Amino acid sequence: MAIRNSVLRYGSVAMTLHWLIAASVLVNLGLGLYMADLPRSDPSRFMFFQTHKSIGLTVLVLSLLRLGWRLVNPIPPLPRGMHPLLRLGSRATHFIFYFMIIAIPLAGWAMVSSSPLGLATPYFGLFSWPNIPFLADLPRATKMQNVDVFLTTHALLADLTIGLIGLHVMGALYHQFLRRDDVLRRMIPGTQVNDPA
Ligand code: HEM
Repeated sequence: MAIRNSVLRYGSVAMTLHWLIAASVLVNLGLGLYMADLPRSDPSRFMFFQTHKSIGLTVLVLSLLRLGWRLVNPIPPLPRGMHPLLRLGSRATHFIFYFMIIAIPLAGWAMVSSSPLGLATPYFGLFSWPNIPFLADLPRATKMQNVDVFLTTHALLADLTIGLIGLHVMGALYHQFLRRDDVLRRMIPGTQVNDPA
């Protein structure tokens, strides 16, 4: 399978990044919503928080790689004959997704960097992922205000992303079952793609 995208389908790099990020975002949405409701006294809370942070920071790195790859490697065009409004909707959804998968982890990282506790993130227990120095060095009172702002932003963007995922999946199913074109297949490894897009 080709590494780069072609006019017919996505290449192996774009597909790997797409599915890795999709799975990680889904896991982290579930984990985030679950752990945020745990009582502070719950003994597993700390472990869930560290795992959530490590997965989220991985999403940040993968998303930046994905954006870079996208910029140097054009994606296959949408099929001809699609209604202009659907084209616009599709492009807009993808653009907002790129924003979300970078902004959500950044807001999370900014939140923990602003915590007065000042603890770095033990990245999957392998090494210490530093806090953002500019935020970590602010006065304590400012940091406490910032935690609130970044937590609200983090949670709001995550909630909006749940709706966005719904739209994205509906779009994929529309292509697969109503239009019966290759738009979903060309993102799935090992599938046959015939449509000249
Ligand atoms: C794709 C990446 C991420 C997603 C989808 C995500 C999603 C979420 C969600 C849904 C919540 C629950 C919010 C609520 O309703 O209160 C949450 C909480 C949290 N997230 Fe993330 N997150 C991501 C990345 C990160 C990163 C990179 C960090 C830090 C390095 C982080 C740190 C936290 C913390 C500390 C909380 C708990 C806040 C609290 O309740 O005190 N997250 N996240």
